[in-house]
Amino acid sequence: MVPELARKVVQGFTGAIKGLRLYPLRHPAVERQILSLYEDLCVFLRGKDRIRLGLLEGTLFIEDHLFTETVPAAEELGQLLKNLEIEGLEFRFGLAEDELRTLLSLLVNGGGKGRVFENTLAKRQLSHISVVKPEEEEEEKRPRQIYGRALKVVDTIFQDVRLGKIPSSAEALNVVKSMAELTLSEPHALFALSMLKDYDNYTFTHSVNVSVIALAVGRSCGLTEEQLRILGFGSLLHDLGKLKIDVGIITKPGRLTEEEFEEIKRHPRTGADIVAGMEGVTPEVIDIVLGHHLRYDQAGYPAEVSGKKLSPMTSMTSIADTYDAITTLRSYQRPMTPRKAIERLRELTGTVLHPQFTESFIASLGTYPVGSLVRLDSNEIGLVVWVDTHDPDSVRLKILFDENGERLAVPARLTLIGKKAHRIVAEVDPFVKGVEVTDYFD
Ligand SMILES: [Fe+2]
Repeated sequence: MVPELARKVVQGFTGAIKGLRLYPLRHPAVERQILSLYEDLCVFLRGKDRIRLGLLEGTLFIEDHLFTETVPAAEELGQLLKNLEIEGLEFRFGLAEDELRTLLSLLVNGGGKGRVFENTLAKRQLSHISVVKPEEEEEEKRPRQIYGRALKVVDTIFQDVRLGKIPSSAEALNVVKSMAELTLSEPHALFALSMLKDYDNYTFTHSVNVSVIALAVGRSCGLTEEQLRILGFGSLLHDLGKLKIDVGIITKPGRLTEEEFEEIKRHPRTGADIVAGMEGVTPEVIDIVLGHHLRYDQAGYPAEVSGKKLSPMTSMTSIADTYDAITTLRSYQRPMTPRKAIERLRELTGTVLHPQFTESFIASLGTYPVGSLVRLDSNEIGLVVWVDTHDPDSVRLKILFDENGERLAVPARLTLIGKKAHRIVAEVDPFVKGVEVTDYFD
């Protein structure tokens, strides 16, 4: 027998689609159908990360239910997906009504077929709906995989620079494209991984982390996918000039002498000269490399850029650079927790950092950003693993310690929506609890 909810969702889809073929989007008759479908989808999504609806060898399925029995609505919806040449659709927790309206309009009014439909949908920047991709393609798009690819790309570029060669841009542009797409579809997924800090390969991981964080900053400031790609590319290369500085100075734990600091100050110019020879480099990329140490008040270095009009992406990269630096362990500094880091960013706003960009970034992170370890009113301790982009106070947690402080062998999942997020009473320092937060991200 077809489960009632699966049947209702499928009928809701075909009903809304039929309605939209006759009436405009906000017509009351259509609106009723869309809202009822929206409610059913939300019920389906309760307690889940995502649900999928699509075709399996030509037969419609929704989650684990395959419509093998004759259900006219399922046949109609299956036929529509076939005509559109898409395997299926994925709806993620946090789905908004407007996202559903946009999807339905595209299904009815021709969002194109196959890849074209997928791109049209991606351009609308729906955070909670996407086209289901064939398995292997999807595998390549997982956050950790993309992060790993970015590390490899930086490694190759660094080797080329050390050998005095002009690095190739092709792979970097490729991985930055995936990073930008992922940032738009799952804004906090890559950002969470920026908490991975490999202290032995600092410049290396720092480059990838600044790029990942800069994308989060850029998204919060409303950049388009195309702009995000440029920002991601520039921030990935921002410290390239450091490779030309004596490594003893770069890794020196103590205070730098004046001469050593003068040497450090040369890295933006050296870096800009290197990237200027690379393919696919736009003026914004050069601005980022040259100006990432220029402060908002125009102090900083190099002096040659002070007072010059640089791309706003330069300021976004500076925010990311600062955020990564203060959340990283140094010989002279314990890493700040995400909330402490936010406080620090606020202190630097208006002098070192661009005020509006910094505020947009902070707002997008929510009260307890992804990667925060938090104590609940029950005394349980959990890790924030997901933040709703539409309501950054709604979070999903993995509970790591029970109310008696005992570490759980298998973390329990908990979702706190809206006011329920008030159950979080404080932030906990992962250092104190011996928690490696990145072990818990997918
Ligand atoms: Fe730098």
